[in-house]
Amino acid sequence: TPLTTSDGAAGLWQPYLYDKGNVHETKWNKETFDYLQSCLTSPDSVKMGIFLQSGYNLCTEPLPDPSFKDAVLGFRQLTKRELDMFPGYSFGWFNTALMIEGKTYLPWLMDWLRQREVKFYQRKIGSFKELADSGADVIINCSGVRSGDLQPDPELQPARGQIIKVDAPWIKHWISTHNFSSRGNSAYIIPGSRLVTVGGVFQVGNWNLQNSSVDHKNIWEAACKLEPSLQHARIVEDWTGLRPARSKVRLERETIRSEPTSFEVIHNYGHGGFGLTIHRGCAEEAARLFGQILEQKGLLAHSKSRL
Ligand SMILES: Cc1cc2nc3c(=O)[nH]c(=O)nc-3n(C[C@H](O)[C@H](O)[C@H](O)COP(=O)(O)OP(=O)(O)OC[C@H]3O[C@@H](n4cnc5c(N)ncnc54)[C@H](O)[C@@H]3O)c2cc1C
Ligand SMILES: *[C@@H]1O[C@H](CO)[C@@H](O)[C@H](O)[C@H]1NC(C)=O
Ligand SMILES: *[C@@H]1O[C@H](CO)[C@@H](O)[C@H](O)[C@H]1NC(C)=O
Ligand SMILES: *[C@@H]1O[C@H](CO)[C@@H](O)[C@H](O)[C@H]1NC(C)=O
Repeated sequence: TPLTTSDGAAGLWQPYLYDKGNVHETKWNKETFDYLQSCLTSPDSVKMGIFLQSGYNLCTEPLPDPSFKDAVLGFRQLTKRELDMFPGYSFGWFNTALMIEGKTYLPWLMDWLRQREVKFYQRKIGSFKELADSGADVIINCSGVRSGDLQPDPELQPARGQIIKVDAPWIKHWISTHNFSSRGNSAYIIPGSRLVTVGGVFQVGNWNLQNSSVDHKNIWEAACKLEPSLQHARIVEDWTGLRPARSKVRLERETIRSEPTSFEVIHNYGHGGFGLTIHRGCAEEAARLFGQILEQKGLLAHSKSRL
């Protein structure tokens, strides 16, 4: 933090509509929701960037219930009177979800870890062998969309997103649209604690991190059609990020042989456009794999004796 993709994300808890059979993801999403909801009983939830927020999913055609319907609160179909507010959309849902703002949550997490004597180093990793050679027992690969020199994964692709942050404190509900004729490039409006995030594009294969004025114009026009009062909002900034898109999250253990030794890697990447939404469930699973490795290697007793 503050330069990761997670820092720029709007921070709405919402996965893609359907898990396409990746039922683990539905479970990890739900675990994350339950965890975040449990944080709301603490005053520190505000320092974590977590709060409740309700909103609309709007569809251009009727759709089956989404995989997340039992994770969120108060899920229901929209009424005709609600749909009348959104010309062009004939179907949709309303529910209460959570916001988890990366710009607040990530620094909070880092402080939490520092208090527990976790050390942070900022440097580019050229290869996992380099880490193993410097004494790492277990490596957790959370490198987002950047495969770089780290053994490329052809399944991992950037899905470029661009957003506009605006000052519009009167907007209190999020609106997420699903237009299947526009291939994922659907408008959304997500109020945050201070600014409203307006999106968005979903450009698979596009690595360009520059803000595009063409995207800006298209995003803004679509959002103003959806919420005309935005025309009176002050535009604060643009931001561009690359979602680590993959057919499914890669969360698994791999033993990498590098004669004369071998080392353990836990992969935890490919969280697409829902990384904040799924983070906690994935982290718990990665921690479980980590514990399994320590146990198998007899490292648990060793680290205890070192303490
Ligand atoms: C416009 C936009 C809006 C979004 N909105 C939401 C939302 O509302 N809700 C939601 O849940 N998700 C949202 N997302 C998705 C979310 O941002 C991502 O899923 C999430 O940030 C991925 O987190 P990550 O930790 O895997 O990757 P990152 O946050 O990109 O972190 C990866 C880190 O690895 C480091 N790294 C990579 N390679 C190396 C190397 N070789 N050496 C050293 N370091 C390396 C990078 O520098 C970076 O710090 C959005 C994304 C975009 C682009
Ligand atoms: C959905 O996308 C199509 C194709 O881009 C567009 O013509 C149509 O107006 C969109 N619908 C709405 C409600 O925005
Ligand atoms: C580590 O993760 C990146 C994605 O961030 C992936 O491209 C790469 O293949 C992974 N490394 C290994 C050794 O599998
Ligand atoms: C995108 O625009 C914002 C300001 O709106 C700026 O801070 C940022 O640096 C821009 N990104 C690039 C890559 O130019």
